[in-house]
Formats: sequence, C-alpha cells, structure tokens
Amino acid sequence: MADPAAPALADHVAENRRHWDADAPKWVASGERAWAQTEPTWGIWGISNEELPLLSEDLAGQRAIELGCGTGYVSAWMHRRGGSVYAIDNSAEQLVTARRLAAEYGVDDIEWVHRNAESVPQPDASFDFAISEYGAAIWCDPHLWIPEAHRLLRPGGRLVFLGNHPLAMICSDADGALPVGTTLERDYFGLGRLDWTAAAEDPGGIEFNMEISSWMRLFRDVGFDVADYHEIQAPPSADATRFWVPATWARRFPAEQAWQLVKR
Ligand SMILES: C[S@@+](CC[C@H](N)C(=O)[O-])C[C@H]1O[C@@H](n2cnc3c(N)ncnc32)[C@H](O)[C@@H]1O
Repeated sequence: MADPAAPALADHVAENRRHWDADAPKWVASGERAWAQTEPTWGIWGISNEELPLLSEDLAGQRAIELGCGTGYVSAWMHRRGGSVYAIDNSAEQLVTARRLAAEYGVDDIEWVHRNAESVPQPDASFDFAISEYGAAIWCDPHLWIPEAHRLLRPGGRLVFLGNHPLAMICSDADGALPVGTTLERDYFGLGRLDWTAAAEDPGGIEFNMEISSWMRLFRDVGFDVADYHEIQAPPSADATRFWVPATWARRFPAEQAWQLVKR
C-alpha cells in the first residue's frame, strides 16, 4: 500500500518505479543466488569482498541503510555481519522478493521500506553506514540522494556505492543499442540524466551519472571526504558479455566505479 506521508514522485522516480515493478520478475533468480552466498561479491564481474572490501566483516552495533535494496541481498549480508538493517526501495515488486527471501532465511528484523531513497523517513544522523549497489547509486539524482545520505549518517559515518563508470556511459549508444563499444557516443561534460525510456534494446528507466570531477565536487560541497575510489576491471577469468558489457571491453576500460566516503 502506498505511504500517505510520501511526497509526490518526480518524473524519474515514477518512471523508475514503473520500470522496476515491471522488471522485478527478471531479478528473482539472481536475488536468490546472492542471498545464498556466504561471502559478498560486487558488481557485474562478481569481485570478492576480499579484493574489493566494501563491506566490513563486523557490523555489530551499527545501524546500516541500503538505498535501493532491490531483492535485498546486500541487506542480508549486512544483517549476517551483525548490522541492524533498514532497507529502502522504490519498487513494491522488488520488495516482494526481498521479503519472501528474508522469510525463507528466517530473517525477521530487517525493515523493508517502500519509498524513494532521495527522501528517507528517518531522522538526521541515525545511521553509521549507508550502501548502494546499483540502487540509488545510478537511479537517483545525485544532487538529491547524496545530500540525503549525508543527512542520514552520523559524523564519521560511511557511504559506499557502486555503479556504472561514466566512461561506460559515454561509450553506450545514445539510442540504447547494446553492448557498450569503443566509440565516444555522447558528451562526457554534462553527462547528467540518461533517459533509456525509448532505448532500442531493453527500454525503460532513467539513470544518472556525472563527470568524475562533478562527483568529487558534489562530495566536497555536501560534506563527504573520499576515503577510496575504485575503477573496476574485469578479471582475467571473465569471458562473456554481462548485461551490456563484454568482458574484453571491461579488461581494457572501467565499466564500473565504487566510491567509499566518510561524513565530515
Ligand atoms: C539493480 S537493482 C539494485 C539492487 C540490488 N543490488 C539488486 O541487484 O537487487 C536497482 C534497484 O534500485 C531501485 N530504485 C530505483 N530508483 C530508486 C529510488 N528512487 N529509490 C529507491 N530505490 C530505487 C529499483 O527499484 C531496483 O530495485
């Protein structure tokens, strides 16, 4: 049921809700596999948490939020590490899968919330840790969700997020033909809003990305320090095309980025 206290949805939030509600059945199997994993892996190449340490081994005593939790496996990994987890997603259908898997795994104390991660109904400074893997990280307006994540964290709290590298976006066909190629298809400067609603393949959804310098400036202006920045390379063992990225491409160029930030 819709939350009567929720603000009216901006057009990108409404479109992304429609898109993800329709797409949710396609993500059930991968969600089930990820819930079954004992160790976290990250991004389209499944990089281990040992190699790309985005999640601490011990979250005991910490309150953690996942911004755009989808099927909820990152929340499950945080819960297993002892975190007290609040998981928010814009798609009721994705949350159906998350809640079902939580019940199957006997997890009854993750709070699953159907809302836009740009506006979270929680008090200031109420979390120690925030994370997004391809959730708010790519589907929310950075000028809204980054300040919101900052508001939600206590001073010293950490925000980790992983999503598309801007280089992969400018090498993606503007008409949405897949996969990513080696031609610069759109401007780097002013990247901003990426509207896939009329895409030639797999249409739907509105994403956001920015020049690396704009991400850095936003973090500084909002009050985050950058603790680490990762440009993710496909491992030698990767061979196929995953989603829209051939492994051969992602061994040469970064398809994904991950930021680790600390609230000043
Ligand atoms: C690829 S999933 C990422 C989540 C998770 N890592 C997974 O793969 O299941 C993208 C999720 O972002 C969610 N999302 C999109 N826009 C959002 C918003 N404004 N607020 C919260 N979640 C949003 C979608 O509903 C979808 O479940």
